[in-house]
Amino acid sequence: MEKATSKQRRRIILAAGASAVAGGAAMVLRPSGVIIPHPHGSPLSVELAGLPEGKLRTVEWQGKPVWVLRRSASELASLALHEDVLTDPDSLQSLQPPACRNRHRSLRPEIFVAIGLCTHQGCTPALLGGDGFLCPCHTSRYDLAGRVFKVGPATANLVIPAYRFDAENRLLIGVDA
Ligand code: FES
Repeated sequence: MEKATSKQRRRIILAAGASAVAGGAAMVLRPSGVIIPHPHGSPLSVELAGLPEGKLRTVEWQGKPVWVLRRSASELASLALHEDVLTDPDSLQSLQPPACRNRHRSLRPEIFVAIGLCTHQGCTPALLGGDGFLCPCHTSRYDLAGRVFKVGPATANLVIPAYRFDAENRLLIGVDA
C-alpha cells in the first residue's frame, strides 16, 4: 500500500477530529477510573471531583486519548500574552464546537478538554507544566488552550471534541453542549 503524504496524514487526523467534534462515543468511564467498552457507543462520562490544577487526566474515547486539564487563574490570564506567535489564535482554521471558539477554547474557562493528538501527524504531545504542550515527534508546540505556535510543522490547533457538563463536577464527552 502507498504511504500517505504528510498532507494526507494531516487530513486523516482532522477528519477523525471532525467526527469527534460531531459527537458519538464508544466507552463509559466509571468514577473508579475503569473504562468499560459500551456496545452501542454512548457518551463518555468523566468525573472532575478531585482533579487538581495542573494535573492532566487522559481518558480513552472512540479509541482516542482525550485530555481533561484544570487550569489555574494565572494560566488562563497568560493565554492573552503570546497570541502574536500563534498560527491560529482565534481558532478560525481549527476544529472545536462553536461554544469553544474563544481564547480558552472551552465551555468553562478553567476546564480544558481536547483530543490529545498532534494535528501534524498524530503523535501524543506532553504537558510541559504551565508552558503548554510539546509534541516529541517534530517539536510542534501548543499553549494551554491547545493553540499551536508558529514554530514547528503543525498548523492547526488541537481538536476539541463535543462535550457538555451534566453536573457541577461531571463532563459528558461526545454530546453537544
Ligand atoms: Fe509531527 Fe507532532 S506529529 S510535530
